[in-house]
Amino acid sequence: MLKRLFLSLALALSASFQAGAQTNSPVPLKAEGIENFFKLSERVYSGAAPEGDAAFVALQKLGIKTVITVDGSTPNIELAHKYGMRYVHLPHGYNGINTNTEAQLVKAAESLPGPIYIHCHHGKHRGPTAAAIVCMATEGWSADRAETWLVTAGTATNYLGLFKTVRQFRPPSPDELKAIPSDFPETVRASGLVDSMVAIDERWDNLKAIRKAGYDAPKDNKDIDPANEAVILWEHFREAQRLQDSITRGEEFVEKLRTSETNAHNTEALFRQLKAGKSAEIRSQLDKNLDAIAQSCTSCHKATRDKALSQ
Ligand code: HEC
Repeated sequence: MLKRLFLSLALALSASFQAGAQTNSPVPLKAEGIENFFKLSERVYSGAAPEGDAAFVALQKLGIKTVITVDGSTPNIELAHKYGMRYVHLPHGYNGINTNTEAQLVKAAESLPGPIYIHCHHGKHRGPTAAAIVCMATEGWSADRAETWLVTAGTATNYLGLFKTVRQFRPPSPDELKAIPSDFPETVRASGLVDSMVAIDERWDNLKAIRKAGYDAPKDNKDIDPANEAVILWEHFREAQRLQDSITRGEEFVEKLRTSETNAHNTEALFRQLKAGKSAEIRSQLDKNLDAIAQSCTSCHKATRDKALSQ
């Protein structure tokens, strides 16, 4: 009788504890050098790539011991070490996370010292998806809760594969986890095209900031020269056409890269004309030109990159 009472009390307590945990939404955090920063649980944080010492100082203050990056760029391992953290590099695409990478993420998050910071480049799409997987496996999150988190993080709904990953996720079994090697590399070599896209993305970010600043150097980065950013962008698009990765994707793919190169060339020419004076008309041409480039990024990604993985 007493035992029954005790059992139901324990059940009621654990139920209310779970209900309490359910209402804990992700907490937005502010830190220099970290965009889209959130605390998801005592052990799991999510956000963008940490920029500079200030960002790592902020992570250190939170006690972060392990940083997992899921994008293609090479992480700043030395800086992480300086602040007593180690990196784990488990890159995945915008089309979703395959089962093996899911198991690697879960094992790394469970077995390495925490708290853990999970990031991608912007902290909006791939990183939050990886963090959702980890929270479903280790923090008792439901798929609904994980999906709500993606919306909070700002994950774009056109990345169907990322939403599908979260909806269809099944935590790996103990045997599956055991089969994953525990010596997680701090960095892995990305494919040539990934490297190239990471570089293109950096230039594109700068060009967006330039546009926002009224086609001038952005306030927080006065050294940027608009025409030069356009030059580096078209150079990257030209180099990308020569990569084996691109060639094996076929002529249509290479043609798209060529079109992007041409658009970036036109952007350069317009910036040079803008310097020479005739502004209003050129500004509106720049608007059109940059819109065309943005459109080419999106449409190529839609055609080649964002299709959901078939698992
Ligand atoms: C001709 C097609 C094409 C165009 C145009 C293109 N991309 Fe990509 N992009 C890809 C493909 C394919 C991938 C995936 C590569 C992989 O995972 O192997 C990719 C991946 C990326 C990534 C992810 C890299 C990583 O960390 O994994 C970023 C960021 C990116 N592109 C940004 C851009 C931006 C910004 C533009 C426009 C200025 C652009 N791309 C134009 C085809 C394209």
